[in-house]
Amino acid sequence: MDWQARFSQQAGWTRELRAYAFDKVGLADARRILEVGCGRGALLAELPARAAVHGLDLEPFRLAEARIHAPDAVLTCGDALALPYPSASFDIAFCHFLLLWLTDPTQALREMKRVTQRHGYVLALAEPDYSRRVDRPKALTALGRWQAESLRRQGADPHLGRRLAGLFAEAGITILETGNLRGVGTHPLMPEEWELEWAVLEADLAGNVPARRVQEMKKLDEAAWRRGERVLYVPTYFAWGRV
Ligand SMILES: C[S@@+](CC[C@H](N)C(=O)[O-])C[C@H]1O[C@@H](n2cnc3c(N)ncnc32)[C@H](O)[C@@H]1O
Repeated sequence: MDWQARFSQQAGWTRELRAYAFDKVGLADARRILEVGCGRGALLAELPARAAVHGLDLEPFRLAEARIHAPDAVLTCGDALALPYPSASFDIAFCHFLLLWLTDPTQALREMKRVTQRHGYVLALAEPDYSRRVDRPKALTALGRWQAESLRRQGADPHLGRRLAGLFAEAGITILETGNLRGVGTHPLMPEEWELEWAVLEADLAGNVPARRVQEMKKLDEAAWRRGERVLYVPTYFAWGRV
């Protein structure tokens, strides 16, 4: 599984939103920026070079790759639930496809708020809600259920997106804007994206759904894309607020 390609693909889904959100919070003028759960640094690499850019992740092997993709960023191995920074260290703290993986997402938001200076911003850019996933033709609906079950088995909350606004409130962050991305998955997938999507699915479902059922679905999915009948939509939520 090519995780770098997967993270780049996910970053591609939210490119327009990031451009909009980062403009709203004045990222171009920020001096200190933090991404919590930065993974391989797909987003860090595109942040303004003149800001002090920090990335934090729990996994050293991901940070090792981030070091290659974002050589100028300051990278720290640590836990989103207990950020290793003094209070008010950053102008902007953001995350992207992170909160669904955490045992206590409210605590992570509290920590992001704590390390952000007064009048700074906290952003959660992409948190999916698989309970409202749409698959057409209907024969493909099981795919969404399987994927949600797989995320649960891996320790994620596949429905986190729908709770995002509530989590901001619990963390004491006043929301300035929230909503969901219209674009994620609604556009026809390119062949290489389709292959990648299926590589993720096949890896996730191996051992949990019979291989024959998975391959049947794959054929149905491919045929539906070819006929132009495929709809695949996973509501993916964002929110940002001021500290
Ligand atoms: C789906 S990846 C997203 C990576 C990156 N934000 C991106 O969009 O390319 C989620 C990341 O969160 C990290 N992560 C999970 N739990 C964490 C925690 N408690 N503290 C910090 N990072 C965590 C994982 O190691 C992984 O790199």
